[in-house]
Amino acid sequence: MGDESRLAAILGMSPEDAPRDDDSGGIKLSYYRSFPNKYTFRMRKVKKWVENALEGRVLNLYAGPTKLDYENIVSNDIDEAFSPDYAMDAAVFTAFWKQSGSGPFDTVILDPPYSERKAMQKYGRGTRSTFQAVKASILDILSPRGVVITFGYTSVCMGKQKGFVTERVALICHGGSINDTIGVAERWIVDPKSGEPFE
Ligand SMILES: C[S@@+](CC[C@H](N)C(=O)[O-])C[C@H]1O[C@@H](n2cnc3c(N)ncnc32)[C@H](O)[C@@H]1O
Repeated sequence: MGDESRLAAILGMSPEDAPRDDDSGGIKLSYYRSFPNKYTFRMRKVKKWVENALEGRVLNLYAGPTKLDYENIVSNDIDEAFSPDYAMDAAVFTAFWKQSGSGPFDTVILDPPYSERKAMQKYGRGTRSTFQAVKASILDILSPRGVVITFGYTSVCMGKQKGFVTERVALICHGGSINDTIGVAERWIVDPKSGEPFE
């Protein structure tokens, strides 16, 4: 069975509807134009886009100052000036939550600071390895078939290796020579340990 047919079977789709490599088949693409804002969700259309992608119990791991219009949400930010529910480093939070036995999240939002996004896109081990570690630790606190929504300059986020498939992409054009912002919503459909799809 080819990749596309396997994916279609996992998603319960007909092979014609499954996401493909060469077009936006099953991936819902939204395109917006907006002035950049260092607080991503202050861009009104982006806030709406992310709110529409939320499911169940949500973790906003790099929450910043913008409050999302959603009830079942836990916020974390290293800066306590934003009054998050938890003021911890992201990796410390994921380890803490796993230990706490408080149960998994159905959606996790990852909107790390500029320098980490830059590191994701470019070179340098420093902040990049930190974000890689955070992404790996998300698997300890995410429900099977849960969603991770990542913002940055690349559409490579959780990825196929960890068992994720991309469902939605938001491309936010800021104009001129400013990098676009890319939002990616991926669903965790395959257990990377067994290689089997989640029920
Ligand atoms: C791009 S902003 C997030 C903006 C937010 N999504 C919004 O629209 O308001 C990144 C946030 O990550 C926080 N941050 C930076 N380093 C962090 C870390 N190691 N762990 C958790 N939060 C961190 C910053 O304080 C900042 O609020």
